Amino acid sequence: MKETQETIASLLQEGRTFYPPEELVENSNVKRFMDEHDIPTYDELLRKAQNIEWFWSEMAREVSIEWYEPYTQVLEWNPPYAKWFINAKYNIVHDALDKQAKLRKNKLAYIWEGEPGDIRKLTYHDLYREVNRFANALKDLGIRKGDRVTIWLPMIPELPIAMLACAKIGAIHSVVFSGFSEKALLDRIQDAEAKLLITADGFYRGGKVIELKSRADQILDQTTIENVIVYDRTNINPPMKEGRDHWWQDVLGSRKCETEIMDANDTLFILYTSGTTGKPKGVIHAHGGYAVGTASTLHFIFDIKEDDIWWCSADIGWITGHSYIVYAPLILGATSVMYEGAPTHPTPARWWEIIERYGVTVFYTAPTAIRMFMRLGEKYPQNHDLSTLRLLGTVGEPINPEAWVWYYKYIGNEQCQIMDTWWQTETGMQMISPLPITPLKPGSATKPFPGIDADVFDPEGNSLHGRNAGGYLVIKKPWPAMLRGLWRAEERYINTYWSAYPNIYFTGDAARVDSEGYFWIQGRLDDVLNVSGHRIGNSEVESALVSHPAVSEAAVVGKPHEVKGEAIVAFVVLKSGIEPSEQLIDDLKQHVAKEIGKIARPDEIYFVPDLPKTRSGKIMRRVCRAVMLGKDPGDITTLANPEAVDFVRKAASGEV
Ligand code: WT7
Repeated sequence: MKETQETIASLLQEGRTFYPPEELVENSNVKRFMDEHDIPTYDELLRKAQNIEWFWSEMAREVSIEWYEPYTQVLEWNPPYAKWFINAKYNIVHDALDKQAKLRKNKLAYIWEGEPGDIRKLTYHDLYREVNRFANALKDLGIRKGDRVTIWLPMIPELPIAMLACAKIGAIHSVVFSGFSEKALLDRIQDAEAKLLITADGFYRGGKVIELKSRADQILDQTTIENVIVYDRTNINPPMKEGRDHWWQDVLGSRKCETEIMDANDTLFILYTSGTTGKPKGVIHAHGGYAVGTASTLHFIFDIKEDDIWWCSADIGWITGHSYIVYAPLILGATSVMYEGAPTHPTPARWWEIIERYGVTVFYTAPTAIRMFMRLGEKYPQNHDLSTLRLLGTVGEPINPEAWVWYYKYIGNEQCQIMDTWWQTETGMQMISPLPITPLKPGSATKPFPGIDADVFDPEGNSLHGRNAGGYLVIKKPWPAMLRGLWRAEERYINTYWSAYPNIYFTGDAARVDSEGYFWIQGRLDDVLNVSGHRIGNSEVESALVSHPAVSEAAVVGKPHEVKGEAIVAFVVLKSGIEPSEQLIDDLKQHVAKEIGKIARPDEIYFVPDLPKTRSGKIMRRVCRAVMLGKDPGDITTLANPEAVDFVRKAASGEV
C-alpha cells in the first residue's frame, strides 16, 4: 500500500503520460485500418474521420456488416433526428448470430458462470438454436414486429437469448435491470405498453436467492401484459397463473426461424434511464446505426481479435451490457465471459478467479468496483494469475488517480493500457476514449473516437476547446448509435438534448479540454446522481420518499463517497403529528429500495422542520447540498424561508 501511495504521489506530480507499448500499437486493429487507408498518424485519422459519411461507411465495411439490401445514402440529418444507412434492409441479428452460426459454428459465444459455481458454455451454434426456438415461442404467443416485450431477467444466458429472439422477429425489447424493484418494473411496462413479460423465478446474489416472478405478480394485474414466460433458475416454484404464465421450457418452438427483414432505422430496443424528473426516459435505439457504432468501438478501442476472451463485468440491464456484452461482441464473433452474481461471493477473489480460469484477455469494469477491490486489498488479485490480460477498461464515472494506479499495477501488472471510456445510454456507444495508439493521461478519457465531434462550450455556445476551462460537453455532429428519440416523449427529447444550443447534442456533463485536446469529464450538470456508476435522478428518490405516508416533502442530494462515488442523502419533512425515529429512518430507506431498487436506497436520512425554497416553492437542492458539505450556499436572501437553511445545517452536522 505504501508503494501505491508513492506511485500515486509521483504520478500526480509529474502529470505523467503513459505511452502505449510498441507491440500493442503495431498489432492493433486501428493501426491496420490506418495502414490500409494510408493514414500516417492518429491526428490525421481524427481529422479524416470528421468526414463522417466516409468514416462510418468505411467502418460498416471494417466490422463486416452485411445488409440484406445496401443503403443508398449514409446519413440523413434532420436535426434533431438522424437516420443512418438509408434504405438499407437489415436486422442486427443477422450479424450477431445468423452469420456467426455459419462462420464460427463451434466457437464459444458465451462462457457463463452462475454464482453458486455452475458453468455453461454456449457456442454460436448453441446460441443460434436457442434463439430460434425462443423466437418461435414469442411468435406462438402472438408477438409481432413492433410489439414491445419487457424482459426482467438476471445475468443468465437466457437474457441475451431473449433479447436476440425479440430482435430476430422485429419485436422491441425493453430490458429492466433485475436489481430494480417491481414498482420500477411496473412503470416501465406501462410506459412501453408491453404485451409480454419474460422473467425468471429468481436468481442468486450474495449467497441468497432473490425472487423475481413472485414480485412481478404483485404488479402484473395493473399492466398491459397478456403473457408471462418464466425461466426456472432457482427451483423455487413461484405461483403460475393458468393461461397467462408459461415456463420457458414448455413454450420453446422449432429450431428454424427466419429473421425478420427490417429497415436499418427500425427500432431495436428501448432502455429506460433516469432524468431530472421522477419519470424515467425511454431511450430508443435502432438496428443499423447501433450495430455499426457499437461494433466499431469495440473493434478499435478494445481491439478485439479472434482469440480474445472478453469480459465486460456490467449487468446487461444497463446500456453497457446491451452494447458490450450482447450486441457488439457477437457482431465481432468474440467469446465473452458472463457472470451472474456478486463480485465478492463467496470471497473477494471471485473476479480474479474468473479471469484466471478462462484466461480473460480484455477486461472492462467500473471505477466503483475498482475502489471496492482496492479497499479489500491487493492480496486477492495477487494470488491469481492475471497474466493473460492485455487491455483494461473503465466506464461510468471519472476514474480517480488512486484507482487508476491500483488497476494499472495490481490488475494490469503495469503491462496494460487503461481505456477510460466516456459515453451514455443515449449515445449507445463509447464516444470519448483512448485507442490502443493513444498516450494516456490518468483521469482523462483522452480524445473523441474518430468521427465523433465533441467539444466544450460556454453558456453562449463559444468553444472552450484547448483552454482547459470548464464548460458544457456537447457533440456537434450525429453518430450512428445516437438515440433516435425518447419513447412517446418527443418534447422531452427536444428539451433535454437539443435546447441548450441549436442542432447540437447536449450531454448534461461538464468537462474541460486541455491544450493537447484531452477531455477531462467533471460530472453531471443536472440533478442526476452517479451512484456506483449508475444514474439515479434526485427527483426519483424524492418521489419515492414522498410516496411514504409519513413524508410530506423531501430533498435528495449527493455526497462524495469513497467507493460509490456519490452517496445519497435525503432531507425529509414529516407530516404533522409524525414523530422522527431511528425506526422511521430504516423504514424510509426500505421504502425507497422497494419503490426503485436497492441502488437508490438513501445512505443518510435527516429530518428537518422545513426545506429551503424559492418564492415560487421550488426546493433548493443546491442550497441543501452546499450547506451539508459545509460550503457557502451563496445568496440565500431571495429564499422564501431563509431560516430553513439552518435546519439543514443543524441536521447534517448532527446538532439535532
Ligand atoms: C453518464 C452516463 C455509458 C455507460 C455507463 C453509464 C457518466 C460515464 C464516464 C467516464 C466520466 C462518465 C457521465 C455520463 N460517465 N462514463 N468514463 N468518465 N463520466 O451510462 O447511466 O447513461 O450514464 O455517466 O456523467 O453522462 P449512463
